[in-house]
Amino acid sequence: MTNPLPLVVDKVLEATVGLSFSRVGYATRSRLESWIDPPSLAGRRVLITGATSGIGFAAAAHLASLGATLTFVARDEARAQTTAAALARRSHNERIDYLVGDVGDLVAIRRVADIVGQRGPLDVLIHNAGALAATRSLSPQGFETTTAVQLLGPFLLTQLLLPALCGASPGRVLTVSSGGMYTQRFDLPSLEEADDHYDGVATYARVKRAQLVLTHEWARRVAWTDTVFHAMHPGWTDTPGLASSLPRFHTAARRLLRTPQQGADTLVWLSGTRDALATSGDFWFDRHRRYEHRIPWTRSSDPGRDQVALWDWCVERTKSH
Ligand SMILES: NC(=O)c1ccc[n+]([C@@H]2O[C@H](COP(=O)([O-])OP(=O)(O)OC[C@H]3O[C@@H](n4cnc5c(N)ncnc54)[C@H](OP(=O)(O)O)[C@@H]3O)[C@@H](O)[C@H]2O)c1
Repeated sequence: MTNPLPLVVDKVLEATVGLSFSRVGYATRSRLESWIDPPSLAGRRVLITGATSGIGFAAAAHLASLGATLTFVARDEARAQTTAAALARRSHNERIDYLVGDVGDLVAIRRVADIVGQRGPLDVLIHNAGALAATRSLSPQGFETTTAVQLLGPFLLTQLLLPALCGASPGRVLTVSSGGMYTQRFDLPSLEEADDHYDGVATYARVKRAQLVLTHEWARRVAWTDTVFHAMHPGWTDTPGLASSLPRFHTAARRLLRTPQQGADTLVWLSGTRDALATSGDFWFDRHRRYEHRIPWTRSSDPGRDQVALWDWCVERTKSH
């Protein structure tokens, strides 16, 4: 008979939110469930965005140490060079390279996709790059930056790399969302909110919610292939991004924050485990599928309509079909 204790403890932790998201949640679950490393990724090609820092760097280092052939996208050449050298040192893997591009710039995304697509099958695509911005700014194509970097850029990159992902059989597309999305319901018009209404925390949480809606729609539209789409959240993780975007929370919660390796664990695990292939369109945290709503009013009356509306909105803005 399976020991029910880990499952019971997991549910109790989940109900607390704070403990679950903290390093306590990670330590408890990983020990009780005896987590082991994901399988080898030798021979697998992985593309990840936002690997120069925090969760993305930790994930890239772990993926490379599992043997993946790794390409990362970074917006700054010098940081990319330093990161590539650091990743190679840590993982003892030389099959690491990078492409320079801002994930919010649709022209750069097309260039990146062109190069990656020509290399053949792509096993794992990880949309990790992201930030919570205190002030509103616009992408090179004139879209609000949080939306451009975490929704439109990833949408276009996935769209253009779909043939390479389908060639991998099975391909995996993983998106790093946030527990912050629990505070917001999906609201398409707010993704283009005007300047005088800008609220960085709310904008970030809405975009993170929209990432889940889009993950469902990808899973539905591409169900005829082996490619799976999943979103996850890393919990509260001590990264430069968290320290700069929420400094007071970072200071207050410092002792409880996860390490970047702990925050990246589920992402790395989803990249290799067979469990991720059994379904598509799920939301994960600490190696388990999770509910997507904690507050009743964040539920939509018509999730299917939301998905199609967001899809059409992304297609129109990225000029992709
Ligand atoms: N830390 C947490 O507690 C937490 C919780 C929930 C979700 N997340 C999510 O986890 C992901 C990683 O965040 P983090 O905490 O690791 O933050 P981080 O340390 O600031 O790392 C963010 C990464 O994204 C890159 N990036 C940001 N904007 C970009 C752009 N326009 N084009 C290309 N790359 C870009 C950054 O590159 P540069 O080096 O050039 O800045 C950096 O590599 C984000 O999606 C974040 O929303 C984090």
